[in-house]
Amino acid sequence: MINIKTREEIILMKESCRIVAEVLKLLVTYIKPGITTKELDELAENYIRSQNAEPAFKGYGNDKKNLYPATLCTSIDDEVVHGIPDNRRLEEGQIISIDVGVKKNNFYGDAAKSFPVGKVSEEKMRLLKVTEESLYKGIEKARAGNRVHDISAAVQKHVENAGFSVVRDLVGHGIGRNLHEDPQIPNYGETGTGILLKPGMTLAIEPMVNMGSYKVKFYSDGWTVTTADGKPSAHFEHTICITESEPEILTK
Ligand code: MF3
Ligand code: CO
Repeated sequence: MINIKTREEIILMKESCRIVAEVLKLLVTYIKPGITTKELDELAENYIRSQNAEPAFKGYGNDKKNLYPATLCTSIDDEVVHGIPDNRRLEEGQIISIDVGVKKNNFYGDAAKSFPVGKVSEEKMRLLKVTEESLYKGIEKARAGNRVHDISAAVQKHVENAGFSVVRDLVGHGIGRNLHEDPQIPNYGETGTGILLKPGMTLAIEPMVNMGSYKVKFYSDGWTVTTADGKPSAHFEHTICITESEPEILTK
């Protein structure tokens, strides 16, 4: 079932989404060789709590014995998503994807962004650029009257034209009173198919783009997803709202 949000609910979501955007902005200045992903995680958690909000990912999961343990997902190089912050130090030349979710007033916001650590290769810079562009190509299609796979197809086309691949085993999602709601939003698909988009739907659109093959592996920690071929991957995500006109980015 797809939840249509009222104007009042969207106002509450904007508050959670603002905090998400501020966390990503705050972390930019700290993403440098030498910092640990755990330190980034602490900075994020402290900021979220200072805003009277809660980290959305901490304690999330289906497996009660292995709930997600941190505020951020920090995924380096061949890690696609859901990398767990730890004591590893960032190194020059890596790329790091940071995903953050916030819950406030019972509503969620979710966004992600990939960053270069110091100076990185031209091909990695191109991966970051193409992935971010593909997110905006998808958002552009998030309009009342379009269908959900119009978003998917736009992402896929932009990525594949650039010679990269979209991950197929993970999807974007509706978001609101739950971190994950219907519909699922794949990053590949046929235009003109899938559910009809309507004003008041709030969606987390999140292309995960691999430099090599789209195949991924699920690591034994129960969370970290890596590329199967060991090549780098990037991830950009925004929470958006479908309106009567332009899509509105809530995590800007
Ligand atoms: N942005 C990701 C998602 O929407 C992050 C989830 S991390 C988790 O699926 F720990 F909460 F699963
Ligand atoms: Co998400």
